[in-house]
Amino acid sequence: MAHLGVYPGSFDPPTLGHLDVIERAAKIFDRLIVAVGINRAKKPLLTPDQRIEAVKQSVTHLPNVEVASFQGLLSAYAASVGADAIVRGLRATADFEYEFQMAMVNRRMQPDIETVFFMTNWETSYVSSSIVKEVALLHGDFQGLVPEPVARIVEKAVRGRTHK
Ligand code: PNS
Repeated sequence: MAHLGVYPGSFDPPTLGHLDVIERAAKIFDRLIVAVGINRAKKPLLTPDQRIEAVKQSVTHLPNVEVASFQGLLSAYAASVGADAIVRGLRATADFEYEFQMAMVNRRMQPDIETVFFMTNWETSYVSSSIVKEVALLHGDFQGLVPEPVARIVEKAVRGRTHK
C-alpha cells in the first residue's frame, strides 16, 4: 500500500530546515504533500501564492513531492487527501510542547492519522522562518538559511515592504 504523508506549515518563508525535512520525508513516504497553511489571522511576510511558489521552486528535484494549500483544520485536510501521516520537524526541546499538543489534538480528531517527527539536522537546527524574516527585514544576510529560489522571493517581498 502506498503511503501518503502531509507536511503542513506556514512556510513564511520555507527554510533549509524545512527542505531538509521534506527531502528526508520524501524517502520514507511514497508521496508527500507539502501543505501551506493559509491563516488569515497571521500577518505573513509572503502572500499565500508566494509561499506556495517558494515551496514549489524548492522541491523541483523531488518527483514524489507535491505542493498544496489548506485552510481550516489540518486534521480535516489530512483526512480529505487520504493521508497516513502528518509530518513535522523538531529542532529544540522548545518545539516539543506545541508539537505535542498539536499531535494530541490532531489524533483526537483523526485517530487513524499518525504524526511523525523528523529530528533536525545539526546544521539547520537554529534556522526558523521567524529568524529569516527578522534578518531579511533588517537587511541582513540570510543567504544560506533558505533555498536559493526562496531568497529571491523574500528579497522581492522585503523590497515591496520597504517601498510602501
Ligand atoms: O509552520 P507552522 O507555523 O508551525 O505551522 C503551523 C500549522 C499551519 C501546521 C498549524 O497552525 C495548523 O495546523 N493550523 C491549522 C489549524 C488547526 O488544525 N489547528 C488545530 C491543531 S493545533
